[in-house]
Amino acid sequence: MCGIVGYIGTEDSKEILLRGLEKLEYRGYDSAGIAVVNNEGVHVFKEKGRIAELRQAVDNSVVAPAGIGHTRWATHGVPSQENAHPHQSTSGRFTLVHNGVIENYAILKREYLQDVTFKSETDTEVIVQLIEKIAAEGLDVEEAFRKTVSLLHGSYALALVDNEDKNTIYVAKNKSPLLVGVGEGFNVVASDAMAMLQVTDQYVELMDKETVIVTKEGVTIKTLDGEVVERAPYTAELDASDIEKGTYPHYMLKEIDEQPLVVRKIIQEYQNENNELHIDADILEAMDEADRIYIVACGTSYHAGLVGKQFIETWAKVPVEVHVASEFSYNMPLLSEKPLFIFISQSGETADSRAVLVQIKELGYKALTITNVPGSTLSRESDYTLLLHAGPEIAVASTKAYTAQLAVLSILAAVTAKTRGIELEFDLVQELAIVANTMEVLCDDKEEMESIALQFLATTRNAFFIGRSVDYYVGLEGALKLKEISYIQAEGFAGGELKHGTIALIENNTPIIALATQEHVNLSIRGNVKEVVARGANPCIISMKGLETEEDRYVIPKVHETLSPLAAVIPLQLISYYAALHRDCDVDKPRNLAKSVTVE
Ligand code: F6R
Repeated sequence: MCGIVGYIGTEDSKEILLRGLEKLEYRGYDSAGIAVVNNEGVHVFKEKGRIAELRQAVDNSVVAPAGIGHTRWATHGVPSQENAHPHQSTSGRFTLVHNGVIENYAILKREYLQDVTFKSETDTEVIVQLIEKIAAEGLDVEEAFRKTVSLLHGSYALALVDNEDKNTIYVAKNKSPLLVGVGEGFNVVASDAMAMLQVTDQYVELMDKETVIVTKEGVTIKTLDGEVVERAPYTAELDASDIEKGTYPHYMLKEIDEQPLVVRKIIQEYQNENNELHIDADILEAMDEADRIYIVACGTSYHAGLVGKQFIETWAKVPVEVHVASEFSYNMPLLSEKPLFIFISQSGETADSRAVLVQIKELGYKALTITNVPGSTLSRESDYTLLLHAGPEIAVASTKAYTAQLAVLSILAAVTAKTRGIELEFDLVQELAIVANTMEVLCDDKEEMESIALQFLATTRNAFFIGRSVDYYVGLEGALKLKEISYIQAEGFAGGELKHGTIALIENNTPIIALATQEHVNLSIRGNVKEVVARGANPCIISMKGLETEEDRYVIPKVHETLSPLAAVIPLQLISYYAALHRDCDVDKPRNLAKSVTVE
């Protein structure tokens, strides 16, 4: 949800900023811009569209040792050159990039900036105009910046440059992610360490409501009251190859293929020296004490939560509710006496989930976050964290994070069961190892997946995914994957629900992707398929070995039935991938979306 970068040092900043923005493009790609400062002042280049378009617009003859950059996911104002960041104050003295949403921008505009003519429709322009206004009252730039920041309500990661000073970048953070990277003779700013891994792996974490003065010699963190904060840098444990596509045409395909490795890594990471599955004692205590667990998440992570509920209830016998984060605040359920909250979030930054976390922390409840990003906001603000160990997920459509979430949830459920004196009738490590091998087989079957995509989805306008029990949850995820990257209108339904309305949409050749991996509902789901076939649908049944019939289009090798979502989702991911590819869609960066959704 917008990404920002900054560089100040001795090299020309343009290429460093552009390369940084390319790494942040997953955060939004409606428009992009950079502002660089040299002895002649500030030079702004911005364009609607992707970083590739911005590159074309940049004047290569300008050389500047400092600069800031932005890639945008539009919130206030349509994607356009005027609304693209950086934004400048009227005199052109100050130039700013911003990630977040300023909730009181209209009030600030009314109160302080009635006489200013705005060039854009953004909330960001209010900030930069306000800095100019306050600086004009006689405050030095640092003071004007801090005073402005203290007037802002909402989320922001800000970087500001001054036309009259090429030696400083002013930075501030609240709720939106932001790091300062440190190097020899240069320093950088980035929404995500990945962006600046090209120049440094040393980063300083910033806390909410902190400002930073960044020069090429050093970084000074201050509170909004101007008190200096000392904080040592940490080493970002990221491998540059993790964030490259390598020989893959798309990140999504690479990330789908990484899933067997991720599951094996999770098994390792969650085993102790005796090769037993292990979860920290304080988390187990919280799980054991809870009389009800509330899983809160969005999108794909929500779908993982639905399957997680099944693991926890079936194995550990603790009741679980799963909630969409964006609805939770308004429709907070009547909570049990001893609730435990589990937040599932690949990015650990999703604003909807964070809003619930803030709310339940205020009520005094404990929270566990399951995330792929150590040190992310949700992780920092929760009592406990379990990491996914999936490596950076860059494609906007989540794939390996989903299966990693399922694997971690299964381990949490199994170890909780053990703590509660419940013996499972199978060895989870062994079953997850079988899942990883099966995932490999499925990933190797790409030709078949492509032919399914061509047979069922090449030209269709819509598609339905049906399943019963956990297959229904996997169907929801399959439908989300397909719609977000191929723009086919796809919906997931519980097999039994179709006849209560949706069956009216079935026409000649409407594709129905039916999952049949659960023995106890195998006959019923096949009955649902017959109902839609009788109305002209084109069925694609994906079943599990042992339950297959002649009519099935694809049979997944056998895995433990409760763990089947980890395997069954892979054909759905691959079918969606090939459908999008053959429909000429931008697989890794689907329209209107962004990877990390940091607005509510
Ligand atoms: C879909 C997808 C989204 C995310 C959702 C939550 O492929 O990626 O639905 O799952 O935006 O994001 P996180 O997990 O980062 O909280």
